Amino acid sequence: MPKVKRINHVAIVVGDMDKALSFWRDALGMELHELRDAPAEKSQVAFLPLPGSEVELVMPVTDDSGIAKYLAKRGPGMHHICLEVDDIEGMMEQLKSKGVRLINEEPRTASDGKKYAFIHPDSASGVLVELYQM
Ligand code: CO
Repeated sequence: MPKVKRINHVAIVVGDMDKALSFWRDALGMELHELRDAPAEKSQVAFLPLPGSEVELVMPVTDDSGIAKYLAKRGPGMHHICLEVDDIEGMMEQLKSKGVRLINEEPRTASDGKKYAFIHPDSASGVLVELYQM
């Protein structure tokens, strides 16, 4: 059976990166590992790793992306939680067989080779859940 291995990351959508970093980096003291533009997502992303996991801050840089619309509609806050699995295809089959609503019917492959897919919040206690297989 496919297994959930760990929380890979938690993604938070922010409207003001400097303000977000003043909390996550400066007040909490978490290390900012990388701050970079993610043109494919029309966003700027900050990575603050912890042992075995990571907090990601995502700030849209245009107003036409999905995440920009999310920010406009709901304001800053938790965007998704990412669960790392050992077998993403197997997990998606298992979820489909249990009637879980998926956003991506098939896993997608990121530029670095990671496979990922999103589960609809309607089936996940109101939380957008991302699946990753490294
Ligand atoms: Co993610």
